Amino acid sequence: MSEPFLQVRGAVKRFGGLTAVNDVSFDVRRGEIVSIIGPNGAGKTTLFNLLTGQLKPTAGDVSLNGQVINALPPERRARLGLGRTFQIAKPLLTLTALENAMVGSFLHHSRLHDAEAKAHQMLIEVGLDRRAHVRAAQLTLSERRRLEVARALALEPSLMLLDEVMAGLNQSEVQDSIDLFRRLNGAGLTFLIIEHNLKVVRAFSERVIVIDRGAKIAEGTAEQILTNPEVVTAYLGRRRG
Ligand SMILES: Nc1ncnc2c1ncn2[C@@H]1O[C@H](COP(=O)(O)OP(=O)(O)O)[C@@H](O)[C@H]1O
Ligand SMILES: [Mg+2]
Repeated sequence: MSEPFLQVRGAVKRFGGLTAVNDVSFDVRRGEIVSIIGPNGAGKTTLFNLLTGQLKPTAGDVSLNGQVINALPPERRARLGLGRTFQIAKPLLTLTALENAMVGSFLHHSRLHDAEAKAHQMLIEVGLDRRAHVRAAQLTLSERRRLEVARALALEPSLMLLDEVMAGLNQSEVQDSIDLFRRLNGAGLTFLIIEHNLKVVRAFSERVIVIDRGAKIAEGTAEQILTNPEVVTAYLGRRRG
């Protein structure tokens, strides 16, 4: 068996008295598409922040390619191939779409021309090239989400973490995103995604991890998980309520 690409062991994050992530362990192998689902407030985004270094774990280890990366700041982790989107897309509003994407591409391209070319290529990927010179403040919600994806892609990651990037997109935009991510996966990009849209989870992921109140309560194929009555009750029951 090849070594897992990403390995999470006993991850814990406490905020004062609240345990937002409670002893979570899982692996992601190279080339996989893994989804994380769970109710609002379950700790999914906090878990992502532990992987990318935005937060330090209270306990536990995160390893990439067999190297424990707990002590590395976000930019070092990005250099090792971790790309991410943020749930609340926060582009630099006074910069253009192209300039925002360049914030990502400067990681690997120090020459302005190269960074700009890479950023432009990523805007084409997400279908935003015609908006390249529009300020982010003028973009629609869906365009901002796509810009967030372009910025993350411009980091040239080997593992892409997507935090609810489909939220607020219409059906055809969701389909376009899935097509793009499938294409990128075919070219070797590994995905770990937080997703509320179960159609997307079913269509796009090979494995699903369910987080509830900070803990991993189930893991399996999309089919196994989405037909598991306990998961459906814990997740869908409370989401409706
Ligand atoms: N920086 C923080 N300080 C204090 N509590 C936080 C912080 N970030 C998240 N939380 C809390 O941790 C829990 C998990 O939040 P979050 O990871 O955003 O959940 P999810 O992404 O699954 O909706 C929530 O109760 C949230 O209020
Ligand atoms: Mg979240």
